[in-house]
Amino acid sequence: MRLKDKKAIVTGAGQGIGRSIALKLGQEGADVVIAEMNPDTGAQTAKELKSLGVKVLSVSLDVASPKQVQVMVDQVLKAWKRIDILVNNAGFDRPGNLLKVREEDWDAVLGVHLKGTLNCMQAVAPHMIENQYGKIINISSVWGKRGALSEISYSSAKAGIIGLTKSVARELGLYQINVNAILPGLILTPTIAKMAEKYQNMIIENTPLKRVGKPEEVANVTAFLASDEASFMTGAMLEVSGGWNM
Ligand SMILES: NC(=O)c1ccc[n+]([C@@H]2O[C@H](COP(=O)([O-])OP(=O)(O)OC[C@H]3O[C@@H](n4cnc5c(N)ncnc54)[C@H](O)[C@@H]3O)[C@@H](O)[C@H]2O)c1
Repeated sequence: MRLKDKKAIVTGAGQGIGRSIALKLGQEGADVVIAEMNPDTGAQTAKELKSLGVKVLSVSLDVASPKQVQVMVDQVLKAWKRIDILVNNAGFDRPGNLLKVREEDWDAVLGVHLKGTLNCMQAVAPHMIENQYGKIINISSVWGKRGALSEISYSSAKAGIIGLTKSVARELGLYQINVNAILPGLILTPTIAKMAEKYQNMIIENTPLKRVGKPEEVANVTAFLASDEASFMTGAMLEVSGGWNM
């Protein structure tokens, strides 16, 4: 129960890594806000958390909209008075290479990952500064470091999250707010399950642990960064990738 009574927002918590993070933070004692675009999957995660005895707030929103994010944060503060933890996890992918990427795909992918992460940090920062306490964990990707063929928007957005995380860590350190990022490798979520096996196998071959990761393995590291056990860590980029990209 490292997070007893902490108030945590998890974006994109309806499925996959976000769902596992929400469950893990809840199991560690936090009250959890499910900030999710899909009301059906959001409700499903909320139900699972409630069955574990976790206090839950469920909000449907698009993190790319600064207005919707602000409304969500105001709602949380009204209900719970505090926000201690923010996990920026929401995202999606639209493949495309340099010569063929469509402007709307570039804007949508950067909108959800990079602008969404900015929007949520901007909305919670004044409150965390006032409290002189906060844990922000941004989910980037190994692809943000190494780039990826035909993944120009996604890789750029995830690389942007690395720069954004380090810049905000510098800015908010003064207020004892820890800002870190996790760079997952290939993690078996509903979205990745749809990826052609031959691409999964190409990554597995180059992964020293010779397997895909589980969402819980990302959630465990997130819970550590959200806890006071990681109190002297900020601006860190933790790869949870089975050694892929070493
Ligand atoms: N699965 C992997 O292998 C992997 C690897 C590296 C990084 N990541 C990153 O981890 C995060 C989670 O990945 P996943 O595989 O669980 O994804 P997923 O597609 O299974 O789940 C993403 C969730 O985010 C929600 N979402 C999407 N757009 C949103 C928006 N605008 N506002 C609010 N919610 C929104 C979706 O509805 C969904 O519930 C993403 O940021 C992804 O880029 C995943």
